[in-house]
Amino acid sequence: MTGGNVWQDHYLAKNTPWDKGEASPGLVDFLSSRKLLPGAVCVPGCGLGHDARAWAAQGFRVLGVDIAPAAVELAGAQARGEGSTAEFVCGDFLLDDPPILFDWVFEHTCFCAIQPDRRSDYVGAVLRWLKPGGCYLAVNYLIPDVEGPPFGTCRAELLDRFSSEFVLREEWLPRSYANRTNLELMLFWQKRLD
Ligand SMILES: C[S@@+](CC[C@H](N)C(=O)[O-])C[C@H]1O[C@@H](n2cnc3c(N)ncnc32)[C@H](O)[C@@H]1O
Repeated sequence: MTGGNVWQDHYLAKNTPWDKGEASPGLVDFLSSRKLLPGAVCVPGCGLGHDARAWAAQGFRVLGVDIAPAAVELAGAQARGEGSTAEFVCGDFLLDDPPILFDWVFEHTCFCAIQPDRRSDYVGAVLRWLKPGGCYLAVNYLIPDVEGPPFGTCRAELLDRFSSEFVLREEWLPRSYANRTNLELMLFWQKRLD
């Protein structure tokens, strides 16, 4: 992708095996264990918005961005139905300009969804959407798959791609969905100030 139509087709057909009907367990634990100052969060590739609603429930101003219009529509309807303040917009995270500069970008299965040859564009997009000093929190999916999506990655590649523009603050193995146990790594980065 960006070939967004492929994703749109998945949502229209309700063929979304990545969607677990709940926020990433690693994100849930992160939010419940920290005292964070609420700010603005972007969730690229937000899908049906479970992670976005989890951030919003903690008082953050949240914008979920997805390239599939059907995902955005469903995410918005679910948020409104639950009284969540999370907002959703259809767009291409890799190409679009951000409507504001965010305090946080939260990654969960967007990096592994894009074509590997777009990964430097992805790093550039995280930089573009974040304020100087902003935080990039990622639940990375460490699988070896070359054919995707999902396309695999490894810790060494992630450190190589992000270290020049971001400082790695923390990393840990999170609690995961049952079928992703030991396949996820959380990396908590801060965009460099200069
Ligand atoms: C594997 S799904 C994950 C969805 C959600 N994060 C989740 O975990 O349920 C990848 C999502 O990224 C979206 N996506 C792919 N490329 C994108 C892009 N360039 N900009 C914004 N969203 C994108 C897809 O439409 C899809 O909803």
